[in-house]
Amino acid sequence: MSSRRTLIIPGDKSISHRALLFNALTKGTAQIDNLLMGEDVQSTIECLRKLGIKIHMEGTKCVLVGGKGTFRQPIGELHCGNSGTTMRLLLGLLAPHPIRAILAGDESLSKRPMKRVTQYLEPLGVDYEASRDLPPICQTGCASIDYFEAELHIASAQMKSALLLTGLQSKGCIVRGGQNSRDHTERMLRGMGATVVQDANGDVLIEAGELSATDIVVPNDISSAAFFMVAGLLLPDSVIELPNIGVNPTRNGIVRSLQLMGANIQVVNHRDVGGEPTGDLIVQTSLLKGIDVLTEWIPTMIDEIPILALAASQAIGRTVIRGAADLRKKESDRIQAIVCSFRDMGLEVEEYDDGIAVEGPQPIRGGFVRCFGDHRIVMTAAIAGLISSTDVTIDSITSVDTSFPSFWSLLNSLSVEETESFATQSSTDK
Ligand code: S3P
Repeated sequence: MSSRRTLIIPGDKSISHRALLFNALTKGTAQIDNLLMGEDVQSTIECLRKLGIKIHMEGTKCVLVGGKGTFRQPIGELHCGNSGTTMRLLLGLLAPHPIRAILAGDESLSKRPMKRVTQYLEPLGVDYEASRDLPPICQTGCASIDYFEAELHIASAQMKSALLLTGLQSKGCIVRGGQNSRDHTERMLRGMGATVVQDANGDVLIEAGELSATDIVVPNDISSAAFFMVAGLLLPDSVIELPNIGVNPTRNGIVRSLQLMGANIQVVNHRDVGGEPTGDLIVQTSLLKGIDVLTEWIPTMIDEIPILALAASQAIGRTVIRGAADLRKKESDRIQAIVCSFRDMGLEVEEYDDGIAVEGPQPIRGGFVRCFGDHRIVMTAAIAGLISSTDVTIDSITSVDTSFPSFWSLLNSLSVEETESFATQSSTDK
């Protein structure tokens, strides 16, 4: 008997952050619908409130009153929690404002490099006390930043976005080297009236300008959907529908890579939601084969590598994922975290400096799994628990609330239904 489920994934995290941060710069009032209610976005909301921005929440609807291009001197720290996007984008957003901001984070964020942004801002006149790299970062902005050009050495949307926000509010800039990294910033700023031009090399130019307050409907998050895509592929006789997913080409590398592995994933009802390509995904049980993942696709699926690696462990043959060294600088050292958590579950993985290789198919034994406080490793282990031969027990699951608070209820709904069509062999410690 085949089981068909429709799962509603929450709003996109990257787009939620941007909808708040960019509207904060305007003179008007904007409504944001389907905002992600995760802790990371909450961190952005709290930081903006400390900077004097009025934000009213009603469920996943948000009404934000822009600060007219200025911010209040914050009292106390701007606490970015676990959210690298909040901290890095705020560094760029606040750089042209002569206020002193102390940006702090949790234990994980306090180990993540901020120099990748501050190294560009400091020569422009922005001042740093103490650390320019590891948080807390104490930054005093500069009101007279000139036009600048920046060359990135990592294809990072966070770095690119931070610098574009600085350029927009000063005299413009060009950011080079962000090729294939997510382009939500460019799309949204354009939709709000900014002049943003991307050339054939992927270099982005932004002119100085003012933004208009703009209502935004956030599509559902493809990075969160990826966990249930892989569940749908690996569970027997299953069809999972995931409506309203953002399928921006700079984010959909996971769909393209899984399809190359033989996955039956259809994207239907293509449409544009607020400048973002959106579609409904239909995922069916599939026999997967190993692939060499294209390195130029890595930035378009950087957050999905753990769950892709799980799919690879069930595919026939070898999957190689290289060119992903920046994974070591995420919420955990994600290369090491994949290797450790997979070994804890009885899966063999080869570790490289910049990636991993997995030979499949391998049985998943289950067991006690260390997840390093990293939401994406926890959710990967939980999906593994759907097909493991004994229970998967996860050391700590609280990190999931940063990006996907409804993950457990969706996972439970899947398990309940699946027990009716086949014997579920495992559970997770929810
Ligand atoms: C993000 C960009 C990515 C991603 C992160 C969110 C963003 O980071 O890993 O979860 O919203 O811009 P990098 O741009 O540093 O690769």
